[in-house]
Amino acid sequence: MLPPNRLRPHCRYAPAVTKLLAALWRRHHETVVCSSRVPDVSLVQIQKNGSAMPITFSPIEACAGNQPFAECHEVDLSRPLDATDIQTIRAALLKHGMLLFRDQHAMTPADEVAFNRAFGWHDDAQCDFLFGFGAPVTEHRVSGAAQMPALPEVSVLGNVLLDDYHGITNTQLVPVLGFSHSGWHADGLHDMFDGLPEMTTMFNPPGWESKGGGETYFTSGVCALERLESGLLDELSRCVVAYMRYPNDDAQDETRRIIPGASVMEREGTFRNGFAIDRHDHDCGLHDFELLPEHAEQAGRHPCIYRHPETGQRSLYITPGQAVCLLDMETGAIRHGVDETAELLSAALLPSALPEVRYEHRWQEGDFVAWINTLALHSASDPSEIDGPRLMHRVRLSTPKRRWAEGRYLDFPTGI
Ligand SMILES: [Fe+2]
Repeated sequence: MLPPNRLRPHCRYAPAVTKLLAALWRRHHETVVCSSRVPDVSLVQIQKNGSAMPITFSPIEACAGNQPFAECHEVDLSRPLDATDIQTIRAALLKHGMLLFRDQHAMTPADEVAFNRAFGWHDDAQCDFLFGFGAPVTEHRVSGAAQMPALPEVSVLGNVLLDDYHGITNTQLVPVLGFSHSGWHADGLHDMFDGLPEMTTMFNPPGWESKGGGETYFTSGVCALERLESGLLDELSRCVVAYMRYPNDDAQDETRRIIPGASVMEREGTFRNGFAIDRHDHDCGLHDFELLPEHAEQAGRHPCIYRHPETGQRSLYITPGQAVCLLDMETGAIRHGVDETAELLSAALLPSALPEVRYEHRWQEGDFVAWINTLALHSASDPSEIDGPRLMHRVRLSTPKRRWAEGRYLDFPTGI
């Protein structure tokens, strides 16, 4: 965290922000301890899909006490889920924010899609699953992800050459996201103005397991709020975060789309220090690019503090690496400029992003993980640390606009 005296004033809120950040600076250099009461992860027993064994949930040991995430036992996701299973898992997703299912070795890509469609959070009319990674692949290319031609809902990510993998041929996968050049995010916040996913799932298929690296980090946005200093919580409660335009935003004006390259993220993936020259090599230097409020014109925006329309849970809901500025919730005027915004969002997230607080999931064959993007933030670890081949499946289905409207996502006034 930068000392507060290195902040440049941007607006009439600057003195208050400097005071607030000074308090946070002192706190950060003392001990940041999670005092949150993590929701109780009690064992739940009910009937389960075709099995005599009941579904059970248990805390994930590596982060118990810091995160509400849970492991789900006695569920075979290669078998159809009945209505009771769906109700139970859905409730657990909303309670815990993220669920881990181990040993799903029999799961197929169709099962992954079926899981994503089971809970009513998807848009039935969705037919575009590109989300910034390019069209379904039929010829040789280098890409951050490829889609299965017969099941375009399923993206394949990793670092291997795909040849006849579920119909994908001659495609070299290259990891494009990472802790130090994309940082913490909620999927879709910054680049899918018209189709945000309520849930994301990832699957480590059998036969693929890296020797090291390739972790996915998670932290609960709900618990993150409980770690927030009250002044910062009050301030963020008044703010809408405005993101930069992105190539796959759907605005009419092409000239407003910017491709600044990958962010260079510091402070445990919470603070953007600039933009990379080469998104595949975050050590090669910074882009000569100055981010301005106008780069958020017509782009995605939403409250920093999200209130879940079903559960009422409030959570810290931000993607610092793609944020441009913070707007006043009521008037739409710029409340914090580019630099202040980077400082405030980092200050808000850092206590929950520290290694001793976050959950670092080390993938094993057969792991299936599902998380609610409004309740849990995540980041890829540094892809340069992946040892050996890696291959993952990911599914993100967009959510109907109506649902986001219920969460008061849409139609904010804006002075940009
Ligand atoms: Fe992501």
